[in-house]
Amino acid sequence: MKITPPIVLKKKGKEKITAITAYDYPTAIAVDRAGIDIVLVGDSLAMVVLGEETTLKATMEIMLHHLKAVSKGVKNALLAVDMPFGSYHTGEEKAVENAIKLVREGNAEAVKIEGVEKKESMIEKIVNSEIPVMGHLGLTPQSVIKMGGYKIQGKTEEEINQLISQAKKLESLGVFSIVLEGIPEETAKLITESINIPTIGIGAGRYCDGQILVLHDLIGLNYDRTPSFVREYANVKGIIEKAIRNYIEDIKTGKFPSEKEVFFLKK
Ligand code: KIV
Repeated sequence: MKITPPIVLKKKGKEKITAITAYDYPTAIAVDRAGIDIVLVGDSLAMVVLGEETTLKATMEIMLHHLKAVSKGVKNALLAVDMPFGSYHTGEEKAVENAIKLVREGNAEAVKIEGVEKKESMIEKIVNSEIPVMGHLGLTPQSVIKMGGYKIQGKTEEEINQLISQAKKLESLGVFSIVLEGIPEETAKLITESINIPTIGIGAGRYCDGQILVLHDLIGLNYDRTPSFVREYANVKGIIEKAIRNYIEDIKTGKFPSEKEVFFLKK
C-alpha cells in the first residue's frame, strides 16, 4: 500500500510509524521492500556517506542528487527529504522555491525542516504550496554550532515547556508529523501527548508515535561512533570486509576468475 501523509497522520494512537534514512538506489529498494512507512533522504548523508563532520555541508545540489536516486527505488513508502542548511534561511520565497524543487525535480513527497521559531510564516507558505511538511525539534543537527555540540535537549522545565509549545505551533501550521531528536523520553512523551499529529523519535525514547534511525547505524555500516540509542541489527561492514578479503585472496591464489567467469572465443 502506498503510504501518504494522511495515512501517517491516521496511525497516531493506533499503530507505530516506522521510518529510516536512505541515500541511494539499492538501499532505497531494500528498505521499501522491507515495508518501511517513511524513507527519509536525510541531510545526515553529508556525514554518513560523504564523510563530512556535520550536516551543514549538505547542499540543495547534493540532496537532489541523492533524492533522485532514492526516488527511483521507493514505491510504497512515503518519500521525505531534508531541506538542507541554507536552503530555507535566506528568505521565504527562496525556501518555497527550494521545497518545490525537491518535489518537482527530486520526486519528494514531503520536506523536513528543523526548528520553528522565526520560521512560522515560511513553514506556512510551504504547507500552502501543497507540500507536506515534517517538523524536527529537540537536538536539531543544523543548529550544532549554536547548541555548542550535539547535546541532549529538553531537560529543564523551561526547555520542556518550550518544546511542547513549539510542537503545538508546528501542528497549528499544518505540519503532518514531527521528528523528535535527542531528548529524554519523559519529554518526548509529554510532547506526544500534547499534540494530535504523530511524533517520530530518534534518541527520544519509547513513547513517540514512531521511530526513525539512520540506515547505516542500524545495519552496522558506520565507521564512526555509533550513538547509544541505536540498535545494530546487522554487521554489514564485517560482511563487506570479509567478502573483499576473500576476493583479494582468490585473486592472489589464482582462484578468481575461474573457468565459469571468463569469456572464450567462439569455436
Ligand atoms: O538527517 C537525518 O538523517 C535526520 C534523521 C536522523 C531524523 O534528520
